[in-house]
Amino acid sequence: MTLKTQIDPLKIPKHVAVIMDGNGRWAKQKGMARVFGHKNGVKAVREVVESAAEIGVKVLTLYAFSTENWNRPKVEVETLMGLLVSSLKDELKTLQKNNIKLQCIGTIENLPAKAQRELFEVINKTKNNDHMTLNLALSYGSREEIVNAIQNISKKVVNKQLLTEEIDEKIINNHLYTFTLPDVDFLIRTSGEKRISNFLLWQIAYAELYFTEVLWPDFRKEHFFEAILDYQHRERRFGKTSEQLEKDNE
Ligand code: FPP
Repeated sequence: MTLKTQIDPLKIPKHVAVIMDGNGRWAKQKGMARVFGHKNGVKAVREVVESAAEIGVKVLTLYAFSTENWNRPKVEVETLMGLLVSSLKDELKTLQKNNIKLQCIGTIENLPAKAQRELFEVINKTKNNDHMTLNLALSYGSREEIVNAIQNISKKVVNKQLLTEEIDEKIINNHLYTFTLPDVDFLIRTSGEKRISNFLLWQIAYAELYFTEVLWPDFRKEHFFEAILDYQHRERRFGKTSEQLEKDNE
């Protein structure tokens, strides 16, 4: 039996988020420059997008570039931006064919103009697709996102559009970059690091976490399906007891 056929179609996580890590180490192991790892990471991106769409994941968020990544050497930042542009150009057809909508989160205005143009073109061309949403986190930082939300909520309170007492979880959700998306159900991080690295801190409150030693450029469909099977064997209790959950399901 293949891994994919073992997956229960009724227990697919709605929102999967991925921290794609290990490109630099993968390249180093091969005696190559870090950018070689990023170039080879593109194939893994394609595999994960395809496999998520195949099993019916509704939202796939990929951490492609963090606010902290701007501090990397210039040549590395330029390579990553170049890869983003070329991948967007190359993958538009695949996104259309698979009925996938592209979205992004982060301070997109900080990206080079060419990357912004390409990004908005693909977002616009795929806006009516509804099989899956591919959400790219670009120049993204979760704390920055939360600061931004608090500033916007405060402005509404000052302008008397909102009362302080009205601020609840829903209001905060609605002011995050992810306001159109459901909470993250499943977070995958590759390369053996067990950190969250300022990624979707609010949105992963009840997510299941999965860490694998596989370096990102080696990550393939089988690894993704293996991770999904692991998720399906877990019991998500959201703070309740197993007995309460059984009753809820009766
Ligand atoms: C982390 O590896 C990876 C990144 C910072 C970038 C991920 C980008 C890609 C896979 C390529 C392009 C993306 C798209 C969406 C087309 P690292 O450099 O931190 O690895 P290390 O921890 O081994 O140094």
